[in-house]
Amino acid sequence: MTTNHDVSAKAAKYLELEDHYGAHNYHPIPVVLERGEGVYLYDVDGKKYFDFLSGYSAVNQGHCHPAIIKTLQEQAAKLTLTSRAFHNNLLGEYEQYITKYFGYDKVLPMNTGVEGGETAIKLARRWGYNVKGIADNEAKIIFAEGNFWGRTLAAISSSTDPSSFKGFGPYMPGFGLVPYNDLVALEKAFQDKTVAAFMVEPIQGEAGVVLPDDGYLKGVRALCNEYNVLFIADEIQTGLARTGKMLACDHEEVRPDILILGKALSGGTLPISAVLADDIVMMQIKPGEHGSTYGGNPLACAVAIKSLEVLKSEKMAENAEAMGDLLRAELEKLNSPLIKLVRGRGLLNAIVINHKDPEVSWELCLHLRDLGLLAKPTHGDKIRFAPPLIINEAQIKEAVQIIATALSRLS
Ligand SMILES: Cc1ncc(COP(=O)(O)O)c(C=O)c1O
Repeated sequence: MTTNHDVSAKAAKYLELEDHYGAHNYHPIPVVLERGEGVYLYDVDGKKYFDFLSGYSAVNQGHCHPAIIKTLQEQAAKLTLTSRAFHNNLLGEYEQYITKYFGYDKVLPMNTGVEGGETAIKLARRWGYNVKGIADNEAKIIFAEGNFWGRTLAAISSSTDPSSFKGFGPYMPGFGLVPYNDLVALEKAFQDKTVAAFMVEPIQGEAGVVLPDDGYLKGVRALCNEYNVLFIADEIQTGLARTGKMLACDHEEVRPDILILGKALSGGTLPISAVLADDIVMMQIKPGEHGSTYGGNPLACAVAIKSLEVLKSEKMAENAEAMGDLLRAELEKLNSPLIKLVRGRGLLNAIVINHKDPEVSWELCLHLRDLGLLAKPTHGDKIRFAPPLIINEAQIKEAVQIIATALSRLS
């Protein structure tokens, strides 16, 4: 399949720079963006696109949300970083705000999502030793196959995707795997008394928006209670209204013992992550035992409060639910033989492509780009459709028309 998807001479210069001077650890869609507003992105030639990736769900509130940017600018002009060597006037206010918002005793602020995951695992190991009584250095953390929680050595040590872990060993000990969406396998793994925690995404995002059966999260909660194992929910991608509720765990009304948030906690402006837990878990880490130079900085605190505020005041979860239903219904209506499956919850969705050529999803994303919609394949035959949560009905319908045209260019 050959299609001419050239970029402009101006865009080509940016691609050349990156290619020459940057590490080749990504394979981006060839488009060079310079501006964002709401659900739209604009490239260096002024062309406008629907953003159907939202920075991997970091931009839930829409690009350059005016209230978030105003807060960012005001706080940036005042104070940005003190380190935790000193107190700042916003950390306590933020900690109170986010713990009340999600209903936990305490929060530990970090920056990237993967640091949130590392923090959760450190907390779980400590709890395992101090509270559960696991022998020193014996604690195990169980993960689900297909998980993705970042790129550090610990994160890739739990990965089942060779492109994540191959050639980077040796790996972190004390990690175990069970199939996703399999409570029988989980219960078997929990027979081991050295298991401290089960860390899981309520919907697996990077794996291609894989939804477990209804009742899975409730089952995880029940097993964790029965076997005295901590339930760690990685809601970095699924949380913050993305799936039509504030947390994906809310769909089954379960409360994890440790909740990890990131991405949209800053509306896509800064790396901000947070780990929430009750005192019995959180107080196992003492001064000097964990931290980060930037974690809890006043700029992040101000931005995170505002990012959380607008999710509620602008009813983004409700909109994600309604617009997600509409998006999936409109995609189903296309009845395209090239779409094997449409799946998702709220505005975290994916289509699975039905075609013998594995390159076809990439080709489809190039057609989408040409037609003014940006999306990216994940795991070959899946394309995630996850626009900002402020998208409206007319925009969804217009985007689906673009998708229909792109599909027709493939056949
Ligand atoms: C579920 C999940 N957890 C953790 C991460 C890692 O976040 P970060 O890239 O900010 O380290 C991601 C990133 O895509 C993710 O989707």
